[in-house]
Amino acid sequence: MSSSSHTVVLPPIGGAAPISDAPEWTLHEHSVVTSTNLVAATLPAWHAVRAGTQTAGRGRFQRHWVSDEGGLWLSAVVPVRSGSIQERLLPLMAGLAVCDALRSLGVEHLRLRWPNDILAPDKKLAGLLIDRFGAELAVVGMGINVLNCPEEFDPLLRGQVLRLADLVTPLPDLPQLARGLLASLRLVLDQTRTLGSDYLLPRLNELWHAPRPVRLELDADEAVTGAFEGIDPSGRLNVRLSSGRQVSFEPHQVRLLRDL
Ligand code: BTN
Repeated sequence: MSSSSHTVVLPPIGGAAPISDAPEWTLHEHSVVTSTNLVAATLPAWHAVRAGTQTAGRGRFQRHWVSDEGGLWLSAVVPVRSGSIQERLLPLMAGLAVCDALRSLGVEHLRLRWPNDILAPDKKLAGLLIDRFGAELAVVGMGINVLNCPEEFDPLLRGQVLRLADLVTPLPDLPQLARGLLASLRLVLDQTRTLGSDYLLPRLNELWHAPRPVRLELDADEAVTGAFEGIDPSGRLNVRLSSGRQVSFEPHQVRLLRDL
């Protein structure tokens, strides 16, 4: 990969039958960027950016995301309608798409931690960050530890993270992995648009390995503990309290979900 941008137009995805009539992905590859999400912010829908390293990789809650050489740092620009259910469910759709792509490589025991941490089964393999820079576009940022060693750069990650290289052989190279992820993202977005939550919900709820004991940190320094039982068709989180009562939370009410 050179330090200048290298652009690849990917072939139609999904084998013989085109999945939709939307344009194909165009992938821009760089050796170093600040953050692929920031570079993608300037691009139209169905463009994607991959970088060898990021100097200012961003995680959720404004955290720094270690983005050393050998990991997959990829951001994809997708269309979203403001206020739509798809906008609300986008983080979950992106998590499902990454899990599908990883499973197709033979990764087992994957699970999602709401909204979109990807674990195998208890260490973090990948993280996603959705950014909105324009009214009708979203950037789906995907970070996957592949051959890199993030714990060498941040000792707090020791024992917490996992790499794809520890889970599958042979490993695809990073451009191939990027193509697989983009194809999977496109497929999940198209399928959800066509089939709605009947398609999405069971697939997602299976990936939480619900019910699982959790602590939800809410706005205003409040927290609840209970068993996470998955999401409902509008994306609300269902939690069974120890009293046996089920309560639902809007995604924006939940700052953080921790496994207990
Ligand atoms: C998290 O789990 O906190 C989310 C991490 C998201 C990291 C990816 S790497 C590609 C894209 N560019 C960024 O700066 N962040 C995301």
